[in-house]
Amino acid sequence: MSFKNQVIWITGASSGIGEAMAYAFHEAGARLILSSRRPEELGRVREQCKGDKSHIHILPLDLTDIDSHADVTEHALELYGQVDMLINNGGISQRGLAHETQMEVIRNVMEINFFGTIHLTRQLLPHMMEKKRGHIVVMSSVVGKFGTRLRSTYAASKHALHGWFDSLRQEVKVHNIDVSLVCPGFVKTNVTLNALLADGSILGKMGSGQMHGMTPEQFTKKLLPRLAKRKNEIYIGGREVVAVYIKRFFPRLLDWVLRRSKVT
Ligand SMILES: NC(=O)c1ccc[n+]([C@@H]2O[C@H](COP(=O)([O-])OP(=O)(O)OC[C@H]3O[C@@H](n4cnc5c(N)ncnc54)[C@H](OP(=O)(O)O)[C@@H]3O)[C@@H](O)[C@H]2O)c1
Repeated sequence: MSFKNQVIWITGASSGIGEAMAYAFHEAGARLILSSRRPEELGRVREQCKGDKSHIHILPLDLTDIDSHADVTEHALELYGQVDMLINNGGISQRGLAHETQMEVIRNVMEINFFGTIHLTRQLLPHMMEKKRGHIVVMSSVVGKFGTRLRSTYAASKHALHGWFDSLRQEVKVHNIDVSLVCPGFVKTNVTLNALLADGSILGKMGSGQMHGMTPEQFTKKLLPRLAKRKNEIYIGGREVVAVYIKRFFPRLLDWVLRRSKVT
């Protein structure tokens, strides 16, 4: 399937994976809507797209401000009259022991990664159901398939996405809507820099996994062909992806390995 002229709405498009997807889909001829909280960064991404930019629109969005989602979605639909693919990519990570992480921090991560994401999706679904076509993409993580130390809230938020969107997939297939959950391993972005610590402050440094991970461009190059096939679940990363399969077949072994692994 070609992405040419497809209207693709990307959240979290101001940085990292979302930014790289903006460049890749623009090059593939898609019409874009770029969202995140920071319009100036979205403007930078738009500027850095090569060639004709007339089909790249910026639409500021805060996933936690769910009261704004209906208006933002209406605006998104006005831009091209349709949205063919929604990529729920915006998100935040967390580092802290489960028993030390403040409830406010846990709620904040869930508001962005889970509630904000499903709320925005719910705004767009009636449109896709009416059109009888659509593709909902969700940026989960390999940590959406297993838990690791210091990431209890992040892992919970990504696991929750799997439960909700797996169920949704079964409901909307009849409307010709596909749902793809993408599980990246380590990708070299600002995700750990922006991660929330147990007290809600910001980590401010890149984790060693991300530091040695693939670039967002390498990630996106692997992602697009798999999205074109509308796969239900997509794993992309280094050897950390193997953990998904160990969890499936030997869960106690993975538990043993992860307890002994460096996870910072
Ligand atoms: N990098 C990895 O190793 C990795 C691995 C697994 C999964 N992921 C997932 O990949 C996705 C993208 O992350 P990234 O690695 O590209 O990190 P990133 O560079 O920090 O990008 C995160 C994006 O989310 C947006 N965002 C954060 N809070 C938001 C909010 N309240 N409302 C709207 N947008 C918000 C940010 O934009 P603004 O600040 O402008 O709002 C930014 O564009 C996330 O869902 C992350 O969990 C990343």
